[in-house]
Amino acid sequence: MEYENIYIEEENPIATIVINRPKKLNALNKRTIEELHVAFKELDEDANIKVIVITGSGEKAFVAGADISEFASFSVEEGRRLAAEGQEQLFSFVENLSTPVIAAINGFALGGGLELAMSSHFRIAGDNAKMGLPEVSLGVIPGYGGTQRLPQLIGKGRAMELIMTAGMIDANKALEYGLVNHVVASDELLPLAYKIAGRISNNSSVAIKHAIKAVNAGYSYDVDGYTVEIDAFGTCFGTNDFKEGTSAFLEKRKADFPGS
Ligand code: COA
Repeated sequence: MEYENIYIEEENPIATIVINRPKKLNALNKRTIEELHVAFKELDEDANIKVIVITGSGEKAFVAGADISEFASFSVEEGRRLAAEGQEQLFSFVENLSTPVIAAINGFALGGGLELAMSSHFRIAGDNAKMGLPEVSLGVIPGYGGTQRLPQLIGKGRAMELIMTAGMIDANKALEYGLVNHVVASDELLPLAYKIAGRISNNSSVAIKHAIKAVNAGYSYDVDGYTVEIDAFGTCFGTNDFKEGTSAFLEKRKADFPGS
């Protein structure tokens, strides 16, 4: 697929997806969501890529939300479809990706932008970041998982207040709330993402895939997280990564995981 609204930088084993509509503050239109789906899928299937970093281009925004101009005249049915397709194609898709995804929030992360960051496995922020779910100020609610993931991450009361006020919190408040894991100066944001990604990529990608699945299972209503963990734990014993990881430890050397 020819990308118009995103670009990808790869430096094995880390890939960076940059959302690139800076004049529209990287707002997520239909095309951008489709491109992101394809990019995440292809990078997830690429055995050389162990971590994906997602960020926005320009200095102002990660993503300032879903593209309001695209849905302003939608009907009830079109609105429902917009949320359902978006969740399936991008937000739930990213959350359940086997490859770790780090959101590097470099400015506004509003509406669908914060929802994309919350779908990522964890978030770090530049000190200029501003986050919020302002949908009720437009007469609509967060539709890309925001009403579910924000309470999971910061607690129900804080999420209710942020959603109801359509307010924005700054990076330090987001850190205090546990919405982001680290806050650094803007020019330190990607270096920090790559430092963390480097540490992740030294570990077994197969074990990480199972860990993501088990952690996510705890937030799902139709499976029991503990059962998923037991199954995934057992499955790891049959992998080459497990053989390599345990052998390397016993032989007092650094593991070189085959990723299988
Ligand atoms: N959808 C579509 N276009 C958007 C957008 C969005 N979510 N967010 C910003 N843009 C566009 C603006 O319309 C403007 O385009 P224009 O230059 O063609 O008029 C451009 O991006 C720059 O935004 P602007 O509003 O001029 O920047 P600002 O610095 O004054 O304000 C924000 C920044 C983020 C506070 C403001 O853009 C905003 O409130 N955006 C909408 C946020 C939102 O409600 N998101 C949830 C959507 S469900």
